[in-house]
Amino acid sequence: MDKLDGQSFHTVQHNIEKMKELFPEICTENKIDFAKLQLLLGEQIETEKERFDFTWNGKTEAIQSAQKQTTGTLRPDIAGSLDWETTKNLYIEGDNLEVLRVLQNSYHNRVKLIYIDPPYNTGNDFVYKDNFRDQMKNYKEHTNESLESNAVTSGRVHTEWLNMMYPRLKIARNLLSDEGVMFISIDDNEVDNLKRICNEIFGEENFVTTIVVKMSEPTGVKMTHVKRKIPKLKEYVLCYKKRNVTFEKIRIPKSTWDNEYKTILTNISKKEIEELKAIRDNEDRTIKDIKKSDVILANIQAVPVSEFAKKNNIEKRDLAGFLFTNAWRIIRTVSVAASVKTIADEKRKTNHNQAFVITTPNNKLYFINNHYNTAVESPRIKILFADDYLTVHPCDFWADIKTTGLDKEGFVDYRNGKKPLKLIKRILSMVALKDDDIVMDFFSGSGTFGEATVRYNIESNLSLRYILVQINENLEQLQMKLSSEAKRDTKKLIDYLKSVGRKPLLSELGKERLVCMKREIQHSTHHDLGFKNFKLDTTNLKKWEKYLSNVEQMPINLTQPVKQGRSEEDVLFEILLKQGIDIVLPIERFILGECTVFSVNGGTVFICLEKDLSLDQINILASKKPNRMVFYEDCFQNEEVRNKAQQILNQNGVEEVLVI
Ligand SMILES: C[S@@+](CC[C@H](N)C(=O)[O-])C[C@H]1O[C@@H](n2cnc3c(N)ncnc32)[C@H](O)[C@@H]1O
Repeated sequence: MDKLDGQSFHTVQHNIEKMKELFPEICTENKIDFAKLQLLLGEQIETEKERFDFTWNGKTEAIQSAQKQTTGTLRPDIAGSLDWETTKNLYIEGDNLEVLRVLQNSYHNRVKLIYIDPPYNTGNDFVYKDNFRDQMKNYKEHTNESLESNAVTSGRVHTEWLNMMYPRLKIARNLLSDEGVMFISIDDNEVDNLKRICNEIFGEENFVTTIVVKMSEPTGVKMTHVKRKIPKLKEYVLCYKKRNVTFEKIRIPKSTWDNEYKTILTNISKKEIEELKAIRDNEDRTIKDIKKSDVILANIQAVPVSEFAKKNNIEKRDLAGFLFTNAWRIIRTVSVAASVKTIADEKRKTNHNQAFVITTPNNKLYFINNHYNTAVESPRIKILFADDYLTVHPCDFWADIKTTGLDKEGFVDYRNGKKPLKLIKRILSMVALKDDDIVMDFFSGSGTFGEATVRYNIESNLSLRYILVQINENLEQLQMKLSSEAKRDTKKLIDYLKSVGRKPLLSELGKERLVCMKREIQHSTHHDLGFKNFKLDTTNLKKWEKYLSNVEQMPINLTQPVKQGRSEEDVLFEILLKQGIDIVLPIERFILGECTVFSVNGGTVFICLEKDLSLDQINILASKKPNRMVFYEDCFQNEEVRNKAQQILNQNGVEEVLVI
């Protein structure tokens, strides 16, 4: 029986394993022979003392911090959750550095997209300074006492911000899958430093782009100082990939609609039109492709948009939105050269459908409207799709996202830093994502990313799962540090949270937002609107606590291995996390042979937290043939039962037996 180690992911060990795969000859007894590695890399070793490097005070510790393990855990808060039984979304409260460490076992290499909107280092947006020696203790102390801010006057403004960001980004990269991608909002204060550390962490070759986002209007106070400075309207979103990301071909509306596009196609799907366009754009298309195009076009119908809108009760005020969202199937027709018309006329003799395709001698493919006016000399026969002309790819300059009047967006009034839902939905839509992909925001603030993911799921009929992390920043303490307007806004927020029966914590705000969203849209969707709420805490097991403080403790009373005040569920989720199991997998609790068993993921893992197990009970548990079983180390009645239990479990095909 193997002992389950109470630690989080061991980054260093993981890296050694990877090195071993590449250079088996450099490893002896789990140690790296550095001289041999140097030999193998030959001239590629940098020996210049004055080499290009970006460094700051504390960098070494920041690097080590990213590799540090923790015995911390996440405790479930079922009452604070929404749709606990069914949801696959996670809302985690706690310091994100420690939370990221805890999540590494279960979500290493699994997250498809991470977006973060960290403090921009504008003077007092820091929550507290990390203590790399003991982050958990630091977190506990700071959330009980007052929170420090990183005042500009502290003199080491950039240094502390870099020390804060470096280990978080490093672990975030570990969580990304090979096709994963990271987006980071930032402004001029730290964009240069952020890019440098990201180049180091992700590799320069994995820098995708810096998106410039217009984030405010040229109005208000900022315009009164134009003689002294140029007002700031923009922010940035840095984008880095882990290895090979695939982006979607997204389109956004141009500012106005061209009324020549006034016919809508029915009996055709977006996917079919995409197929048609792929064939059109492929110069190596085959006869089979042409035939396939004609089959797709065989049943379409062309209806005037005005008629379609009337029939479908589309109100005048909704028409512009309707046109742009249906631009993929709205068309106009134009005339063509006489030589092209001759080809179309020839095909018309045998094809009587609404539309068909032709190819020209110089290998161009045209979509032809069959029902054209034959009485005119240059009839409009060629079909143009509105989205090819009236929508554009936003590329890396986003000036179309409304940023004013958003105070009430997302139900909660969090003026200080709430991002527009449209920005986050745009980011999600950029990347090729599929059902069950995990997307994450570990500086989640008011929970915009959670709401945006749900709304994006509904609009795109997807089932992405989100993970949000937010520190339980105390707004009453924050308020004391703020002045005038920000103080008033925070007071309003505190009053609001109290009025809905919540504590004045930022993490409560995010949850409240998601609860309000569910209330509003639950009747119109079947999508997952819930979240499982977890809270960062120290380990539940006394013996694992020992690792944390690194001090020799009194012998542990094994008859009571769990700390006071911790529940069976707390221990269960800690085991899942330390075992690297996804904590949203279905869990059933049932009684077998008079003992309680948690069956994870339809019986693949059994966790039994009972004491004094007899051989009869082991026989019953083993007969269910889980792949893996977890017990307390001293759960067997005696040593003999323990040895026999191992045999019985082996005989029943239980591949792994772990004890805690
Ligand atoms: C700029 S805000 C994010 C706003 C968010 N994008 C939204 O739309 O509401 C940054 C958030 O990160 C949180 N934060 C700062 N340090 C943190 C830490 N160590 N762990 C978790 N959250 C933290 C802050 O409390 C703040 O709410």
